[in-house]
Amino acid sequence: MKRIGLAVACVPVALMVAGAAPAQTYPSKAVRIIVPYPPGGTSDILSRLLSPKLNETFGQPIVVDNRPGANGNIGAELVAKSAPDGYTLLLPVFSAHGQGRSPACGDPTPSQTEGPFFKAGTPERTSFIEPGTTAARLVITGQVLSARGCRPVPNAVLEFWHSDDRGEYDNNGYRYRGHQRTDQQGGYRIETIVPAAYPGRTRHIHVKVQAPGRRVLTTQLYFPNDPGNRRDGIYRRELEMKMIDAGMAQFDFVVDA
Ligand SMILES: [Fe+2]
Repeated sequence: MKRIGLAVACVPVALMVAGAAPAQTYPSKAVRIIVPYPPGGTSDILSRLLSPKLNETFGQPIVVDNRPGANGNIGAELVAKSAPDGYTLLLPVFSAHGQGRSPACGDPTPSQTEGPFFKAGTPERTSFIEPGTTAARLVITGQVLSARGCRPVPNAVLEFWHSDDRGEYDNNGYRYRGHQRTDQQGGYRIETIVPAAYPGRTRHIHVKVQAPGRRVLTTQLYFPNDPGNRRDGIYRRELEMKMIDAGMAQFDFVVDA
């Protein structure tokens, strides 16, 4: 709810008005809010949260009108062609972060090879930290988002595995292996160590992501500015994590959902 609250706070400045009306008489009739996306999306929900407040402030009815299609362009065009009297407003798309995202949420996260070290049956956990380890810590946070509508995907399963700080995988046990489920905002957090590169590969983290009832995305995450990236034929720039602080990385997965 915290993230939604942020978005609501942004909306009054983001409502796009088709022209201005004289302040002293405005509004003297119903105001229409065009949501250029189908019912049920973030913009639609926000508009319906906002309507009672606007109704109270304006003292006039607020009509929410969904006009989906063409990635939001149909609704936007309708507002652009409306009379410039301030009675037709456009609510652009908002993500759960409160920041604008493209309606398609960017391209789906690319898949990558599973590699030879995947092992099924991992424990459910959000920390891979071993007692007494001196390896550099790494926390990765982010969201799982649906490719259709850019909505958070709750209860998605994320499975991580990576090498240790000497570049070796635990193929007998489950060190640096585990899975977890996303929360109600599609969020995840994994606390681990910075893996080492090993011969032929730059530093990387393997991941499988699966939205409920959907196919599994198998991919890998990379570290920005790692000198090994240029020498690794599997590395892809789109799969770089964003380093937001020392030992703090961020990556959102966009999946089939
Ligand atoms: Fe690997």
